[in-house]
Amino acid sequence: MSDYDQVKAAADAIRARISDVPEIAIVLGSGLGDFASALDDGVTMPYGELPHWPASRVIGHAGKLVVGTSGGRTIAALAGRCHLYEGHDAGRVAFAVRALKLLGVQTLILTNAAGGVNTTFSQGALMVIDDHINLMGQNPLVGDNDERFGARFPDMTEVYSSRLRGIADGAAKTLGFQLAHGVYAALMGPSYETPAEIRYLRTIGADAVGMSTVPEAIVARHMKMDVLGISCITNMAAGVLPQALDHSEVMATAARVRGQFIALLEGIIGEL
Ligand code: HPA
Repeated sequence: MSDYDQVKAAADAIRARISDVPEIAIVLGSGLGDFASALDDGVTMPYGELPHWPASRVIGHAGKLVVGTSGGRTIAALAGRCHLYEGHDAGRVAFAVRALKLLGVQTLILTNAAGGVNTTFSQGALMVIDDHINLMGQNPLVGDNDERFGARFPDMTEVYSSRLRGIADGAAKTLGFQLAHGVYAALMGPSYETPAEIRYLRTIGADAVGMSTVPEAIVARHMKMDVLGISCITNMAAGVLPQALDHSEVMATAARVRGQFIALLEGIIGEL
């Protein structure tokens, strides 16, 4: 079965279980999965029930697709994504995004937990991703190109839509806070970076660092979806503060900003 047929089978399986097709999808990062439960009238589909869907096994990633409404709009929320560091190849990481596009989603909001490389950021800040640097050593589009998904050499000049970034800023302003902006550097992980690597990332223009999002963003642009990326700066990156990094700190910060984060997503959806 071709990749395309597998993705189509998954999209068809989702369509069979919902009454309204979503135009907007949100991929929820570590500790940010609660937004899925905030949707009204949600239909929950554990990844294991969807054909060919790759499962995520990381703590803090529930592994389910919820289709429900927020402010009257039908939204698909993915709580849990699969990461390259789990051993999935980059093409598998692309699966969910491709299935959503075949389902009818045009706007994709990618969220993640990230380390703050820019020392003016503070823990708990929310950052709009203006651009990215792919240091994962992999690209989800490697291999034969299926033109049904997109072109062989897709343009990446504006991965993250300036229109959507403006909408995010407006939604934050209405809520009474300001969003940070910056460049997200993606590394494969799963080890956190060394302080030397963080100094290098700062030198090459990164503001935040993480282990996700970029493969999905590349796949989405290949399919000409409109992409918005938001990082929750859950911790300062290695070497910025005199302390070690710990996944429990990432989860604790994500939990602390949960309310603000959900309000921001709802505000953005209201403007789309
Ligand atoms: N580095 C990489 N990934 C992350 C970090 C970090 O400091 N925090 C959350 N995800």
